[in-house]
Amino acid sequence: MDGNVDVKRGERVVRPPPSPGEGSRLGDWETAYARYREDPEGFWAAVAGELEWFRPWDRVREWRHPYARWFVNGALNITHNCLDRHASGDHRNKVALIWRGEEEGDEQVLTYRQLHREVMRFANALKNLGVGKGDTVCIYMPLVPEQIVAMLACARIGAVHSIVFGGFGASALHARIRDAKAKIIVTADVGYRRGKRVALKTIVDEAVVNAPSVERIIVLRRTRPELELYSELEVDYEECMAAADAFCPPEVMDAEDPLFILYTSGTTGTPKGIVHTCGGYMVGAYYTSQYVFDMRENDVYWCTADPGWITGHSYIVYGPLAAGATVLITETVPDHPDPGVWWRIIEDFGVTIFYTAPTAIRMFMKFGEEWPKRSSLDSLRLIGSVGEPLNPEAFEWYYRVIGGSACPVLDTWWQTETGMHMITTLAGEPMKPGFAGRPIPGVAADVVDREGNPVQPGVGGLLVITEPWPAMMRAVHNNDERYRQYWTTVNGYYTAGDLAVKDEDGYIMVLGRADDIIIVAGHNLGTAEVESALVSHEAVAEAAVIGIPDALKGQAVKAFVILRLGHAPSEKLKSDLVYHVRMSIGPIAMPSAIEFVESLPKTRSGKIMRRVLKAQEMGIDPGDISTLEE
Ligand code: WTA
Repeated sequence: MDGNVDVKRGERVVRPPPSPGEGSRLGDWETAYARYREDPEGFWAAVAGELEWFRPWDRVREWRHPYARWFVNGALNITHNCLDRHASGDHRNKVALIWRGEEEGDEQVLTYRQLHREVMRFANALKNLGVGKGDTVCIYMPLVPEQIVAMLACARIGAVHSIVFGGFGASALHARIRDAKAKIIVTADVGYRRGKRVALKTIVDEAVVNAPSVERIIVLRRTRPELELYSELEVDYEECMAAADAFCPPEVMDAEDPLFILYTSGTTGTPKGIVHTCGGYMVGAYYTSQYVFDMRENDVYWCTADPGWITGHSYIVYGPLAAGATVLITETVPDHPDPGVWWRIIEDFGVTIFYTAPTAIRMFMKFGEEWPKRSSLDSLRLIGSVGEPLNPEAFEWYYRVIGGSACPVLDTWWQTETGMHMITTLAGEPMKPGFAGRPIPGVAADVVDREGNPVQPGVGGLLVITEPWPAMMRAVHNNDERYRQYWTTVNGYYTAGDLAVKDEDGYIMVLGRADDIIIVAGHNLGTAEVESALVSHEAVAEAAVIGIPDALKGQAVKAFVILRLGHAPSEKLKSDLVYHVRMSIGPIAMPSAIEFVESLPKTRSGKIMRRVLKAQEMGIDPGDISTLEE
């Protein structure tokens, strides 16, 4: 890992022509960062003070390593800040959500007042089904306004939501329902993807077998004739809305009450349920939306993620709504009916801030410039990226073709665990292609060696956060040991699990994961989860998976499989295995290559050494193999 890394990639510095008055309102980075360093608590208190609290906090921060509390004894409800605050005043008729379906013309618009009312009604519907503060609700939905309504309704009454991305399969959903002990599942009959229906409810039916915590399933029925609901367990979304009262006061939440659980891939065993709390998360999501994205009154903001990922939680729902923005969401995929559809959406709705992933940018590069050129993208003023490294080629293309060489490109580094943006280049600051940038004001980050000493510029090391921040995760659900690991591996710092390198100006280039996580098209996959899916197939005795470079998806999954006696390698079996993984975890986890092998490299303690497989695959030095079993 350590050693010199070529930072020449970043030699080019891009300074976008700043349009008048549109640099970041934080001011220049040096001044804003110094202001934060002088008084970190004062800095965050000032941000929190821009929001409304039912009861002020006693202390900004309480840090008993590795456990933090922020805005101690403060009381709030995040939906009050996302909805009531705007719905009651001059903003009531401002558009909160614009939804665009797969078909052109398939649209829905909700003002702040309308969204507020929908949320209150669904909150009452949940209450009518016996959901209360502290109960867990699992949301497994397509990207429709009701998905966001369901999230906010949970937050309204203090229920903890656990959103599972609609692209996950039955066994992934099942594991998440069980771990979180979800009482209610909110789902839809179908989602639409490339003109085809994805039968979500059927997947739920399979996932709830052996999930005794589940009391009810609420189903949004989008197709006609309506899908039949069978047991008493199942209730119709519209019916329970119709039966519910319109007004629901916000539950008074302590700043440290949990807001949601979101599962992210772990390196071993089951996915980790990352727990975020109400107060600190709200402040972090609001601050970064307002000041990193630099939202203005007339912005139309579009983040292409799904609310099922942290990017959607923080930058479709909680952050932008707390900032009072107009948020565009869409069920469309980037290449259907053709690769011009997203650019037409930008033109049609006058999108000003656009936030997407490197995998999408690389896909558009492949389709060619002619597609974006067919639409006017002049409305854009800030474009962002998240999920994996934005390589310099992709940066240049994004900056020139999409941003018209006039928009800041914000390559934002952060994680499910961090809850909010941590490292990026603020609007108006010089950008370096290949580098995410410097820690934002409010965040203390560094690149260090295994002992925690800062490494020299140009030398690779571990990316760490050296001080707590408001939106940091508070726990890994039911697994304190794993939570503690984050803060105890390197010198008491928070270790992100990423490798990085810094340059002389303190700009950080993120190189990729240091552990067994594969990022496919921006989605985190734990090797363990894919391996256990493979092993659940009758023909498989043992499996190991690694990430291999993929021009489009960043990384792709390659699987090494040992067959059980009596099963012979064949092309047919390969496709069966791919299909099997698809059904159990979802399309993102599908191996793009499978190799049948006789044995796997293991340590003496029996751990599969994936880095040896990877080194073989890439023709590189596997590093220290002293623990390798013969
Ligand atoms: C990677 C997504 C390079 C990184 C918000 C991190 C990035 C993991 C970037 C978290 C970026 C995210 N540059 N790598 N701008 N953003 N990553 O939890 O490896 O889904 O640890 O959160 O994605 O993924 P997660």
